[in-house]
Amino acid sequence: MEFSIKSGSPEKQRTACVVVGIFDSRKLTLAADLLDRISNGYISDILRRGDLEGKLGSTLLLHNVPHTLCDRVLLVGLGREREFKDAEYHTAIRSAVKALMETGAPEAVFYLTEVPVRKREIAWRIEHATQVVYECLYRFDRFKSKQDDARRQLRKLTLSVSRRSELSIGEDALRRGQAIAEGMDLAKDLGNLPGNVCTPTYLAETAKEIAGRFSLELEVLEANDMEALGMGSLLSVAKGSIQPPKLIVLRYHGADKKVKPIVLVGKGITFDSGGISLKPGEGMDEMKYDMCGAATVLGTIQSAAQMKLPLNVYAVVPTCENMPAGNASKPGDIVTSMSGQTIEILNTDAEGRLILCDALTYVERFEPDTVVDVATLTGACIIALGHVATGLYANHDGLARELSSAGEDACDKAWHMPLWDEYQDQLKSNFADMANIGGRPAGSITAACFLSRYAKAYEWAHLDIAGTAWKSGKEKGATGRPVPLLSRFLIGRADQLEGKVPMRGRPKRVTEADGESAQHDED
Ligand code: BES
Ligand code: MN
Ligand code: ZN
Repeated sequence: MEFSIKSGSPEKQRTACVVVGIFDSRKLTLAADLLDRISNGYISDILRRGDLEGKLGSTLLLHNVPHTLCDRVLLVGLGREREFKDAEYHTAIRSAVKALMETGAPEAVFYLTEVPVRKREIAWRIEHATQVVYECLYRFDRFKSKQDDARRQLRKLTLSVSRRSELSIGEDALRRGQAIAEGMDLAKDLGNLPGNVCTPTYLAETAKEIAGRFSLELEVLEANDMEALGMGSLLSVAKGSIQPPKLIVLRYHGADKKVKPIVLVGKGITFDSGGISLKPGEGMDEMKYDMCGAATVLGTIQSAAQMKLPLNVYAVVPTCENMPAGNASKPGDIVTSMSGQTIEILNTDAEGRLILCDALTYVERFEPDTVVDVATLTGACIIALGHVATGLYANHDGLARELSSAGEDACDKAWHMPLWDEYQDQLKSNFADMANIGGRPAGSITAACFLSRYAKAYEWAHLDIAGTAWKSGKEKGATGRPVPLLSRFLIGRADQLEGKVPMRGRPKRVTEADGESAQHDED
């Protein structure tokens, strides 16, 4: 799909379709009103006859509107003007694209991007419209023998801004929207791929492709490297599988090497059978999605590199399968993590934390400014927050605030959950430093508590995306979340570094001179 930004009046567009909004009840937006005037009330006549009330998401396609230069006009219902906010804007764009795809129009000019949305500027509206269009166009049909070609006709979309002075802001926003949407598409593809294709080796190959395309540095650690580093916890999960585990490290340097990196760590279990603590059969296929954390961090680093953000961002992916086998870990086994802390594996299905803890210790060597891990970690998180919000935990409140506000701006919400010491008691083991499960109560929180024991050396946040990374049922498929949240977070960090917005009470992000980095202070 080709996109462009334009400013100009709707009646003068020589195009296959002009898309304008109508509020409930029958109130014309500015662009609709211009078309109505030039056509001597043609549109308001039709509305008066009751063909479109303006209900959110409704559409009406008109042909040959008098005195216009376009072939078609698509009217899109926006709902009540006073209630037109983020979600309504998304819905309006989505219904417009769906209606357009039903027509034969190869191109269209959207005036919906000019409609005011509460608290959202033109940049936000363009960025989000772009993402919604990608979302409507996304298909995962590479394993179908016949492809559906409905989307092929629509080839070019123009998004309108009301003033010429907004053109360059609009173009920047369009490029950001595309970078984020393409990161989401990558995350969705990886998530949707079956476990027999998307193995740890496949993830490493994908990382290599991204590295080649965007000039990133890539390092892939193999099982013997992990052994040498003492990653007994990660290896204990991998050992029941025939697929070799990998630890993927992708590095994007958009800033001076002295600027401390933001490290994103993603859980990459390419299939989670539960291991010896085997999961029930029903719905087990969905455990191919247990690498969506990995897919997210790969999608996000790609979007950061495509946006050329002036930051250093690393993506670290511990990846393996969790399978039952004669040599698989058993309940009661005790392993030693890279940090030296010992873990009693009471349930082999709580494997995500076992691979993440070694990755969290490993990233200390980068002296990170911030570490955010992303994981489809617990079914309990779905019980707590459903499929609406990602679970957000942090050992630093400022970081939690940054992430949750990034989530709101991105319409990819996360909810700050408690990480209080009182919950840590549930991880007590009689035989090792800790158990890998904390019982049924507060299962998402105790999983985060487990991780927090490995993330003491830096500012850290954890995103539990068990409920948000994919959809089940008829619309089964990966969502690409939380690529928008993390991309927005990184854009915010880039703005802070460039002095566009104040640092959030954390002045020092650069290490001391000559690559000799300052030690991280213990709080
Ligand atoms: N990958 C699962 C979490 C999960 C389950 C995500 C269902 C999305 C849907 C994770 O490895 C797991 O199995 N967690 C267990 C932990 C339990 C054994 C403490 C869970 O949530 O049941
Ligand atoms: Mn599991
Ligand atoms: Zn899992």
